[in-house]
Formats: sequence, C-alpha cells, structure tokens
Amino acid sequence: MATVFVIANQKGGIGKSTTATNLAAILGKKKKTLLIDADPQGNSSSTYEAKIEDVATLYDVMIDSDKLPASDAIQHTKNGDIIASDPLLVKAEKMLDGDVEGFYRLKDALDVLEGYDYIVIDTAPSLNIILYNCLIASDQVIIPVTADAYATQGIEQLYDTIMAVKRRQNRDLSIAGLLLVRYSGRSNLERSTRESIEESAAGMGTKLFDTVIRECVKTREAQEHRMNLIDYAPRCTTCQDYLEFTKELTGLSV
Ligand SMILES: Nc1ncnc2c1ncn2[C@@H]1O[C@H](COP(=O)(O)OP(=O)(O)OP(=O)(O)O)[C@@H](O)[C@H]1O
Ligand SMILES: [Mg+2]
Repeated sequence: MATVFVIANQKGGIGKSTTATNLAAILGKKKKTLLIDADPQGNSSSTYEAKIEDVATLYDVMIDSDKLPASDAIQHTKNGDIIASDPLLVKAEKMLDGDVEGFYRLKDALDVLEGYDYIVIDTAPSLNIILYNCLIASDQVIIPVTADAYATQGIEQLYDTIMAVKRRQNRDLSIAGLLLVRYSGRSNLERSTRESIEESAAGMGTKLFDTVIRECVKTREAQEHRMNLIDYAPRCTTCQDYLEFTKELTGLSV
C-alpha cells in the first residue's frame, strides 16, 4: 500500500501546490510516486503539464456516475505521474452532498490502486467535501505555513476538521507537521513568528519540521516553464530545501 500525503491549508497562495509538486517530483526520482491534483484551479496539473481536456481527470474518478478506476486517469508526464484536476470539480461539493458515500469516493478509488509507493495530494484553499475526501484517503497531513503575522490564523479550523475525520472516518490519519515555506529570513517578524508557529504545532500535538523552505525566483520560473524544480534548477535554495524536507519526512535521500 502506498503512503498517502495530503498538503492542506485553507489559506490561499501560501505554497501548497509548490510543496506538492516538488515533493512528488523528488520522491518520483527514487520511488513510484503519483501526484493527485484535487484543486479545481489546477495549478499542479499545469506545472506538471498535464492535460485537462479530452482526458479522464479526478472529476471522472470521483464524481461521474460511471466512475473510472483511478489507474485510467493517470497521465505519465515528463514531470511524473499525475491525476489531473478539472475545473468541473467546483461542482463536486453539491453533487457529493447528500450522498452517504460522498466522503469516501477518493478513498475507494485509491484503495484499489496498485503499484505506487507514495501518493501526494494537492488541495484547494477551502474546507469542503473534496478536502474531506482527501483527508479520509490519506495517512499524513502536511500543513505549509508562511511566517507572517497571520501565519496560524485559521489553522485551528483545519485542525478541528482533521481531528473530526480522525475520530469518525480515518483513525490512522496523523499530522506529519507544519512546514515553514516561502521563508526569506530577512525580517525580525519572520523570526519571531517562527516561535509562535512552533507553539501552535505543539498545541496540535505535532511539530514544526526542522527544514525551512526558503524563497527563490527559480521556483516561479520553473512553474512558468511547466517543469519541476529538481529538473529545472536542482541547485537553487528552494530545491535544496525541498530535498532536505523530503529526507526529513520519509528518511529517503534523493
Ligand atoms: N519557495 C518559494 N520561492 C519563491 N516563490 C514561491 C515559493 N513557494 C511558492 N512560491 C510562489 O508563491 C505563489 C503561491 O504558491 P502556490 O501556488 O504553491 O500556493 P498555494 O497554497 O497552492 O495556492 P492556492 O491556495 O491558490 O492553491 C506561487 O506564485 C509560487 O510560485
Ligand atoms: Mg495551489
């Protein structure tokens, strides 16, 4: 069975997709890894240069009445294997709501998917039924946070959701940790916020990862070139930090 990581934080634009694509691409260099884009915005799909038109996507796996096996929705791109997102996923909340099995669509699909060591799921900045599906299908949650004044705002809500899922639907779910991302280290505020993030992590019974992901312009450049960072700029600070983080998370050295 694959180990499933979900990258979650309902705050927008903080580095979830960047973390998901880099972690998946790095793990993919050593192990069979699948990235799943569960955000209708499709940023990870775009970075991986996955198709959205005329192909099966996560929407078909989760929502369509004739559900596809997940294996039929996998695209093998130069960046790695991915199940792409679809803008239609925004309709999913309504469609799954009221269906007693609506929370378990992704878990059911992944339970019968074979051949992967790791699955990494990127999620949208929202607490909705798609996120519940992702949490129910996952083993470990990684919560990226930025070191700003509102860093941990809203995290309690995410924590409550994770704990509710753990109590009711997925006992084995755990929080792998909070990951400080997009760190410039330049301001005093960043340094002091780091301490408060550590306290928040402890309050949630988890840790702040030792590895901190620093900012680098190559990150955005790689995304514009629709490439993962490990191929585009393996020596840049952000890539080096994601390599270190992958090692801290899994013990794998890539
Ligand atoms: N380490 C980094 N260095 C430089 N830029 C970064 C870094 N991490 C993320 N970014 C940039 O920050 C922006 C937001 O990142 P990203 O898309 O990963 O956030 P997100 O949490 O997935 O957003 P959303 O909530 O909209 O899905 C992007 O433009 C990305 O290129
Ligand atoms: Mg994103």
